Amino acid sequence: MKLFNRDFLTLKDFKKDELLFLIDLAYDFKKKKKTGERHSFLVGKSAALFFEKPSTRTRISLEVACNDLGIHPIYLESKQMQISRGEPIKDTARVLERYVDIIIARVYSHKTLEILAEYADIPVVNALSDFAHPLQILGDFLTIKEKIGLNDVKIAFLGDGDNNVAHSLLFGCAILGLDFRIGAPKAYQPSQSVLENAKKLAEKNHGKVLITEDPIEAVRDADIIYTDVWVSMGDEAEAAQRIKIFEPYKVSWDILKYAKEDVLFMHCLPRHEEVEDSVFESKHSIVWDQAENRLHSAKAVLASLLTR
Ligand code: CP
Ligand code: NVA
Repeated sequence: MKLFNRDFLTLKDFKKDELLFLIDLAYDFKKKKKTGERHSFLVGKSAALFFEKPSTRTRISLEVACNDLGIHPIYLESKQMQISRGEPIKDTARVLERYVDIIIARVYSHKTLEILAEYADIPVVNALSDFAHPLQILGDFLTIKEKIGLNDVKIAFLGDGDNNVAHSLLFGCAILGLDFRIGAPKAYQPSQSVLENAKKLAEKNHGKVLITEDPIEAVRDADIIYTDVWVSMGDEAEAAQRIKIFEPYKVSWDILKYAKEDVLFMHCLPRHEEVEDSVFESKHSIVWDQAENRLHSAKAVLASLLTR
């Protein structure tokens, strides 16, 4: 199957069979990596990695993914580019498309990605924006598939229900027809438009969506409890107020006891105060497999977009 959309900006643009295809392809790349089978079939291609924000996993997994596929990655820190002196993003897009085959961007505003996609006639991949983090959730679905499969799975997300990771989980679970719950304070629940989109997708794919202020209701009988930082990159000015308001949503042993006995704990990382250390380090935690799968799923996206 070839990919559909030219860009990879949010999961909501994809159909269920396309997401399942990408997850399977990521698994194939994982097997190739483990057996040492060469897969550098994109030699001669170049990728611009344009980053406005820090990154450990996303940048490194993408650079290694490029290297394994034969793509030359060029890391571009926005502060080092003329954009930091006022060059318009639409001009940057039109220059990059003359040099490279794909743009991968981590940005503050999702609008920046949309401008890159509009002005550059090459694929644009979202490496995290304020609105979505689709590469993360694609890797997470591979992890869930490997651990418990993707049928009849109940996933509970606790914390900031209106951030990039929560949005992408919401869309991804709706498309795959999973049972997804968000436990978040009223002011940090997904916006009306995000929720309406997700509910339509869930209805079409026989998924379920529950948004609640009650963390116990969210995690009841869950197979997976997922959390993310309470203070995302760009939200630092609100840190003190957020840390206070999110405290009841901390993933603790008290919370875990309402989920299934063998509940899995997931976190996109990096972690801060949103999970008890002993839960994070416990047998429930699958965070390192999650982190590893970022590499294999990044390859699935790059290979699909560059072999059309
Ligand atoms: N999960 C994730 O995107 O991590 P980084 O910010 O380290 O890339
Ligand atoms: N919501 C977090 C995710 C980090 C991978 C952030 O945007 O900072």
